[in-house]
Amino acid sequence: MLFDLQPKTRREDLYDREAELQEFRDALNLGERLILLLGLRRLGKSSLLNVSLNESGMPYAKIDVRSLYFTHGSIPQEILAKKLLDSLLSTVSSRRAIRLRLEKALESVRGIRLSGLHVEFERKPDLAEILERINSWAEKEGLRVIIAFDEAQYLRLSGIQYDGLIAYAVDNLPALTFALTGSEVGMLYDFLGLENPKKPLFGRYAREITLNRFSREQSVDFLSKGFEEIRVEVHKGELERVVDRLDGITGWLTTYGYLRGVRGLSERDALEELFQRAQALVMEELSSLLSYSRRYGLILKAVALGNESWSDIKEYLEFKGGRINDAKFSLLLKNLTKYGYLTKTGRSYAIPDPVVQEVVRKLSLPQGK
Ligand SMILES: Nc1ncnc2c1ncn2[C@@H]1O[C@H](COP(=O)(O)OP(=O)(O)OP(=O)(O)O)[C@@H](O)[C@H]1O
Ligand SMILES: [Mg+2]
Repeated sequence: MLFDLQPKTRREDLYDREAELQEFRDALNLGERLILLLGLRRLGKSSLLNVSLNESGMPYAKIDVRSLYFTHGSIPQEILAKKLLDSLLSTVSSRRAIRLRLEKALESVRGIRLSGLHVEFERKPDLAEILERINSWAEKEGLRVIIAFDEAQYLRLSGIQYDGLIAYAVDNLPALTFALTGSEVGMLYDFLGLENPKKPLFGRYAREITLNRFSREQSVDFLSKGFEEIRVEVHKGELERVVDRLDGITGWLTTYGYLRGVRGLSERDALEELFQRAQALVMEELSSLLSYSRRYGLILKAVALGNESWSDIKEYLEFKGGRINDAKFSLLLKNLTKYGYLTKTGRSYAIPDPVVQEVVRKLSLPQGK
């Protein structure tokens, strides 16, 4: 169902994204080692990743790095290794002979214990060694294995050099392809450092697939197909009004479709509930940023209220939050851009998501720094 709120996993539940799916396939067929799926929050990166993995027919391991980070407060190697192997084993679970040979290949990893489709470690595992074993197994089977990290920029917060590990694998383990998604695009670039001579992945090639918001026409068509699918009749005028407010942000359009079509709310109530949910969600997303500095909130608010230029935003910030020097202010702006909360076009800053913009405009920020 198009209006299912979970990230999609099946092709038939995914609206369009043909070109992106094709590009992912092309990269795999060419044996490319590093694929990046980039895009603002809620545009459908996880969905695209899930469907691409399912359609690939290849064994894969998928790890939701963001949820791992929030569950554990970091990304310990043993937990990453366990998730990776549990996931990989489950994707080959129905191919008995292949699975048994994979288990055999893994048995020689130091400290590993396999029970059914689950993996435990008696000592801290060496992820590089595990990837080597997977690679040699895949080479013998004539397979390619996809290692997918959803929201991979969180790997940078682990204190472990996962960028070095990925670089090692990209250079030396030809049967593996890494597929990484990132909504904090600038942070993902920083973490990988493909263009930073001081980083291990410097100079490596990556296939970049960028998800854009739906066009106006697509957004209306998406809603209309979604309602048709669940046999709910909705006037074209309503669809136009909804797209005026939500733009082509897939996640919001899906939420609207769910509230209006599945829950049966009126247009007004569905939008009201959507904005309530959005407020809670955006506050949660912003909370770590705001706990670091209240100024982040003030900057976003300045932009949400229509201040676009560096100097107008700074003026608002200083009026509300006291003096700040130029370098510090520029750094905060740059960070917000890296996190994807702001976009910069020419000299103008904007909040790229109109729902987030509306939520931020109403944000009441606590006093203090
Ligand atoms: N092409 C699509 N067709 C139908 N539904 C979609 C599509 N893309 C995304 N969705 C829906 O939009 C919502 C957001 O999708 P998803 O979680 O995949 O996006 P995301 O970019 O990974 O978001 P986040 O940045 O929050 O991780 C979900 O409800 C998902 O089901
Ligand atoms: Mg996601």
